[in-house]
Amino acid sequence: MKRHNFRPETESVHGGTNLDKRNAPMAQPIYQTSTFQVTDSEQQLRATHTDMFYTRYGNPTHTAVEARIAELEGADAALLFASGMNAITTSILALVKAGDHIVAQRDIYGGVTKFLSAWLPKLGVETTFVDTTDYDQHARAIRPHTRLLYLESPTNPTLRVVDLRKPVAIAKERQIITLIDSTFATPINQRPAEFGIDLVLHSGTKYFGGHTDLICGVAAGRRDLIDEIHHTRTTLGGTMDPHAAFLLLRGIKTLAVRLERQNESALRIAEFLSQHGRVRSVNYPFLKGHPQRALAMEQMKGGGGVLSFEVDGTGEDAKRLSEALHLFTLAPSLGGVESLVSIPVLTSHAMISAEHRQKMGVTEQLVRLSVGIENVEDLIADLEQALAAVATQQQVAVG
Ligand SMILES: Cc1ncc(COP(=O)(O)O)c(C=O)c1O
Repeated sequence: MKRHNFRPETESVHGGTNLDKRNAPMAQPIYQTSTFQVTDSEQQLRATHTDMFYTRYGNPTHTAVEARIAELEGADAALLFASGMNAITTSILALVKAGDHIVAQRDIYGGVTKFLSAWLPKLGVETTFVDTTDYDQHARAIRPHTRLLYLESPTNPTLRVVDLRKPVAIAKERQIITLIDSTFATPINQRPAEFGIDLVLHSGTKYFGGHTDLICGVAAGRRDLIDEIHHTRTTLGGTMDPHAAFLLLRGIKTLAVRLERQNESALRIAEFLSQHGRVRSVNYPFLKGHPQRALAMEQMKGGGGVLSFEVDGTGEDAKRLSEALHLFTLAPSLGGVESLVSIPVLTSHAMISAEHRQKMGVTEQLVRLSVGIENVEDLIADLEQALAAVATQQQVAVG
């Protein structure tokens, strides 16, 4: 892999590539092959540890994308997976054994909450969930066999921001490995490796891909951990398809410009909603009044393209609002060029208990928006008309 030292906008386009003058394709070729032939048994042995042995182990198309992501994150190395959940579960499984303990923030993606609380105990690994921004609670939860500290920032869907330096200090003192789900931030807005986080995880399905047309996951971080996780990925088999990896690389080329627009538009929309009479509360890291705004502005380059808000009304009103929107498409997921709306209790957090959701502040009135790259005035007009439609229905119901 070629290492440069360019800024993220440049690394999005050139990260991991050779800039020497040469005769070569501009676009990354797709090695759409499950296996690689060799000349003889000698070469077969040597090929085993390369990206030209068997695609479950690796593939040159993956290598090109992994090199780009490693540069973007400022990490030693990166790995691709068949989905974000696959990146997270494979990484955790690679790093724990029966009897180990994990400390995890309470506000994390619902699928991960389920994996930690319902699946890992079957293998003898227990997790303690702690208040996301109460770092004393993180420290108190640590036991002699605690192996991992699992974080997410900003959090899905309430957009809380973790002070990365604090959990890192707690973990380093006790030789605990830190992992963060940085999906909402992307390396354009936040580079956790620079804060000492050992492993950065992403649902690449979201901003990396950026076009709502592929599923993938990413782990980037310390070389020794990535090597360990690579062995586990090979065994569990969650490798990405090479064609999808090609699409992913194409998406990454525009990551920085997409994020620039999404950061700007999401802030504008958060400001609009925060002044609207039919909105009870708005969650967006760069919005005035956000409890960790100063920290977010110091730690992140932009607030990201996702925000959430509570409708002033019932869970039914939130559903009506999401259905009344035209430009925000009603669908789970986020991070694409098209704006999406979802109701977390029905989508990302449907699989976790109502009690856990309540502790996270994920109410029935909460609506999550993923802001795309459309014109922000059009998006605001769409929200305006949908909020007005809900208000009219509320009045009819009262009348
Ligand atoms: C923050 C976060 N992490 C992880 C995931 C899981 O990613 P995937 O759907 O690619 O498996 C999601 C999915 O929505 C997510 O929002």
